[in-house]
Amino acid sequence: MPVVHQTQEVRSLLAPARAAGKQIGLVLTMGALHEGHLSLVRAAKLECDYVVATIFVNPTQFDADDDLERYPRNTTADCAQLEQLGVDLIFAPATQEVYPDGFTTTIDPPAVAARLEGKHRPGHFRGVATVVLKFLHMAPADIAYFGNKDYQQTLVVQHMVRDLNLPIQIRCCPTVRDPDGLALSSRNQILSTSQRTQAQVISHSLNHAQQLVSSGERDAKAIKNAMQKILSTHGISRIDYIAIADSKTLEEVAQVEDATIVLIAAYIGQTRLIDNQLLTLC
Ligand code: PAF
Repeated sequence: MPVVHQTQEVRSLLAPARAAGKQIGLVLTMGALHEGHLSLVRAAKLECDYVVATIFVNPTQFDADDDLERYPRNTTADCAQLEQLGVDLIFAPATQEVYPDGFTTTIDPPAVAARLEGKHRPGHFRGVATVVLKFLHMAPADIAYFGNKDYQQTLVVQHMVRDLNLPIQIRCCPTVRDPDGLALSSRNQILSTSQRTQAQVISHSLNHAQQLVSSGERDAKAIKNAMQKILSTHGISRIDYIAIADSKTLEEVAQVEDATIVLIAAYIGQTRLIDNQLLTLC
């Protein structure tokens, strides 16, 4: 399995696959792979004839330098896992390849980027949208796979693809969780043992929101208060947001209805984790 670092190499390796009419799948990652990423690769392998995975820790989507520095990196192990799953090509460019000297062009992300993550991490989605668009050009594919855990990111990408008429389909794959409910994230690796135990409360609070809805509660404020109480009881007090929102626009709602989603961003120590759950009414 080739591991290449230059755009030109990716394009030349993809050209014969494209000419042979193969369906090309693309999985974009920042490395430090876990089962969540691997589930995207498996989905791509099921549906596509040729699968490209990228590994690039994108500096422009981090807000603080220390967050970027703390981000886990393990390219050797990542490549071994991707090879085992039958990925056909890995593209792992250097920063200079993605952001050459003099780089100034960026994407103004779609409106859905302004809420929640966008509000708390100014510039984050500009960085994500820009790098995703660049990768869609550098490694042209038919279908790109994203995870539901980064729900707002997937919406941002979907809206960008629609708004800019990009010739690619976007698949949104389910969140993969540890048995105790914690959504898999590369950031989980930096949690201490006690923080790891505390982190599971995030998904428990989402489950509690669903339980309340299942027992007839519809008032968003009441549900958010109940979630906050669970989190604070377990020592999680630094919460960027708990939002109950329309799942298409991410506009917050006062009442839970069909297609409502609950989203959360909270800190466990220095580590910021996000998670979400679609709420079902019955
Ligand atoms: O979800 C991620 O890992 C990143 O935001 C992505 C899509 C690879 C862009 O850097």
